[in-house]
Amino acid sequence: MKHTEQIYLTPMPVRIWHWLNALGIVTLCVTALQIRFPDYVNVFGTYKAAIRLHNTAGVVVSISYALWLIYYMFVTRTLVKLYVPTLDDIKYGLFRQAFFYFFYYFLGRPNPHHSTPDSKFNPMQKAAYLMIMLVLLPLVVLTGFFLMYIAPLREIFVLVGGIKTLVSAHYLIACCFCAFLFVHIYLATLGHTPFAHFKPMWVGWEEEEVEDGTQEPAHGAGPVLPIHSVGHTAETAETASTGGIHVS
Ligand code: HEM
Repeated sequence: MKHTEQIYLTPMPVRIWHWLNALGIVTLCVTALQIRFPDYVNVFGTYKAAIRLHNTAGVVVSISYALWLIYYMFVTRTLVKLYVPTLDDIKYGLFRQAFFYFFYYFLGRPNPHHSTPDSKFNPMQKAAYLMIMLVLLPLVVLTGFFLMYIAPLREIFVLVGGIKTLVSAHYLIACCFCAFLFVHIYLATLGHTPFAHFKPMWVGWEEEEVEDGTQEPAHGAGPVLPIHSVGHTAETAETASTGGIHVS
């Protein structure tokens, strides 16, 4: 027999950041297509309009990224704990998780990773999000910023190999983002129901299916307790004292 537990995984600031960022990145991708292939793509009327919208979305994504970084580094101080893979994750976890996605998932086996507020991401998510959030996003923001100010920053361009190198780098990183988006959305549908992982990004709470009798601590988050009735309100003292796992 299985029962479900409600876990408070995604606080409001992260949810707001995520959907603002997603909208910004999708806008950047579509406007970029028109800027790169103006003869084939025309979604926003003129070429100039596409550039203006691209620059605006770039500024919105940059500011929301800075707020995300400040929130995880200085407010919750959980950036390292949540996003950086441990040695165990690298040696075993990555392979175990990849094996699940490529093979065991199709046999109906359970996900080897159980999310808790202290360990939200499986080793593959940690590696992917770390790369996206701490390497590729800062790089695309930086190269985009340089490209917005070509004239005043011309001397810096020479140092990094000229405008062509910068444009190519910006374009290649953007392609990585498009690839990430497809994989990210596909993997997000592989919960116990297709929308199980989407729910916490809207309401904060994730519903986890757990085999009866398995109440051992999950990934150092304290005891996991079964839920019988759940109130979908905000984070309470009760959830805080149980590590974000709602108990009734
Ligand atoms: C339409 C586009 C997108 C959709 C539908 C989407 C969907 C989701 C879903 C369902 C989750 C929760 C499941 C999970 O943790 O994997 C999630 C989390 C996350 N997504 Fe996205 N995403 C989108 C775009 C993006 C983009 C563009 C980025 C980064 C550039 C991104 C970065 C993240 C991060 C870092 C998390 C973890 C957030 C946290 O809990 O700290 N997502 N996304």
